[in-house]
Amino acid sequence: MRRYGTMLLVLLPLWSLTGCSGDHKTPDNTPKHDENLNHTKDRNNTTKTLAIDFKTIVLKNEAAYIPPMCYTKTEDEQGMVHNPCFSCHTKSIAPNYVNDGDFQTRYPFAKFTHTNRWTNLFVDRQKQIDAISDKEILKYVNQSNYLDEQGNIILKEKITHHLPKAWDIFNTGKWYGYVPDCYFNFDNEGFDKNPKNNTPTGWRAFSYTPFLGTFWPTNGSTDDVFIRLPKTFREDDQEEYNKEIYKINLAVLESLILKKDVDIETTDEKELGYDLDGDGVFNMANHIAFDPDTIHFVGFAGKLQEDQKIHVVPGLFPVGTEFLHSVRYITVEDGKNVTMAARMKELRYGIKGTWFSKKDLKDSTELEALEQEAYPNRLRTFFGNIQIGIDNAQGWYYQGFIEDNKGALRPQTFEETVYCIGCHSGLGSTTDGVFAFPRKLSGKNTFHFGWAHALQMKGKTIPEPKRTDGKYEYSYYLKHNHAGDEFRENDEVIKKFFNTDGSLKQNMLDQLHKDISVLIYPSAKRALELDKAYQVIVKEQSFVKGRDATSKPVKNVLRKVNEDELTGVVKLLDAQ
Ligand code: HEC
Ligand code: HEC
Repeated sequence: MRRYGTMLLVLLPLWSLTGCSGDHKTPDNTPKHDENLNHTKDRNNTTKTLAIDFKTIVLKNEAAYIPPMCYTKTEDEQGMVHNPCFSCHTKSIAPNYVNDGDFQTRYPFAKFTHTNRWTNLFVDRQKQIDAISDKEILKYVNQSNYLDEQGNIILKEKITHHLPKAWDIFNTGKWYGYVPDCYFNFDNEGFDKNPKNNTPTGWRAFSYTPFLGTFWPTNGSTDDVFIRLPKTFREDDQEEYNKEIYKINLAVLESLILKKDVDIETTDEKELGYDLDGDGVFNMANHIAFDPDTIHFVGFAGKLQEDQKIHVVPGLFPVGTEFLHSVRYITVEDGKNVTMAARMKELRYGIKGTWFSKKDLKDSTELEALEQEAYPNRLRTFFGNIQIGIDNAQGWYYQGFIEDNKGALRPQTFEETVYCIGCHSGLGSTTDGVFAFPRKLSGKNTFHFGWAHALQMKGKTIPEPKRTDGKYEYSYYLKHNHAGDEFRENDEVIKKFFNTDGSLKQNMLDQLHKDISVLIYPSAKRALELDKAYQVIVKEQSFVKGRDATSKPVKNVLRKVNEDELTGVVKLLDAQ
């Protein structure tokens, strides 16, 4: 059990800057109504951009941070128990103190959360889906809504030069949050560059094995993740940009987060002035040695570390670390190759704004656990707004952009942003609230040491990741969930990997161990069906009722749970 809930003091400077109050129950912010969700047509019957209230902090679903997976019906008619819960709720590894493995056994318990408000899961969209042709949807998903034809970042242009009135929630004509600045134009080491002047943006793509279930493309979306460290980590001690130094610092971070040695290209330690491999001499190093007492950043950040101006703690990211995550549609090339589409469903962003020490994290988690026991019906409250995002009470701010009903990216509303925070703070399975970086591909036998964008990994096989107990991770999930998605709606994976008696097909597992694509990619037919299903939700703008690309009402999700209802899971499983 876990929880936090104090820690707002550290955020005050930001609030005074933006003039925002925060609590979603502020009385003068009356809720806007469901008309926002209605599809409007003008006289010519062309779709208009829907008016969305970006200012309101009133939530329709006050439990928007508890995702739909928590309502999965775990017991089937045959009395078999499925456990899709352990991937998120698990024994945690410090400095994650959330330790919520016992959530595998019970359904959401606060009174408000007894009703599942993710009602999009129960809508039949088949007719609307069937009305969209393959050609139409392919044209849609293949068109970028991020870069225009001149290669400009559409959101950046809009925010800096034509800030829409509705997004200007403080009436200052200014935007105080993240301005998208990644060109998705990476060199062969994953570094992003502005194509106009060839300057590095600081973003670097990395490859990772996607998180269990929901983030496998076969369940709806393709994606990629970028990391950027603060300027001081990209500079030499003269404060000049230096790519080699940045590379070492990213490898040092990788070692800190993975808590293990990390391979690097052969590097001259004499030049850097640091003993990277910890062998006691300045010579050539081919790895960063993980030793919590001696591990060291280099360049300007190295100097700052010596002056104790940055925090270097295994399992925690330095202040100023940023992540960018594009969630995309799936496209089909040449009628068969299933891959990442140009069109973004969402652009998601996170930045660590404040340092929380191990002790801060432990104290706040313990306090939350006590509060939850004392006030079991109380829900989490959130602070923030659409421009700077919402803080996760552990130092990070998250915000995102999502398609409007015409497919252009717009900021996510306060409620849509609340959705981000549960996963990125409330789970035992993350590292400092982060999912993908700890799952980064690593090692000298990996393509570019794992620093490559998903599109650069096309045609390369990725073997199945293993758990700390040595078992294959995806196979373990299939075995305990008896399906490839939380809701057990993905018939394609079930047919491909399971015999009719529910046992796993050994020959498929053998293939999976060598190459995860046999599991994680859908067929071309399924890919297009998923795209269409999601596009229907985009047209409705009904994201607060759920973003899952389902066609038919799902069968294995509860609409209501009873007080103290148990899942039937008896044996707790560990995610790692
Ligand atoms: C993809 C990740 C994910 C999966 C899978 C998942 N959950 Fe959750 N669950 C969450 C998040 C996020 C929260 C909110 C955590 C927070 O901020 O308090 C949550 C909250 C809960 C809570 C606490 C609710 C409350 O009232 O505070 C329970 C109980 C729970 N989940 C049960 C389950 C069960 C049972 C399953 C499997 C059937 C499951 N979850 C699957 C992410 C997940
Ligand atoms: C259901 C849980 C869940 C929700 C809700 C969620 N995320 Fe994530 N997020 C993930 C997972 C899992 C990944 C890793 C992606 C993968 O494995 O393919 C991720 C990755 C990210 C990353 C890259 C850094 C990292 O943690 O790996 C950012 C940034 C991010 N999400 C931001 C957001 C924002 C902003 C929102 C809300 C709009 C959001 N997320 C909602 C689970 C979630």
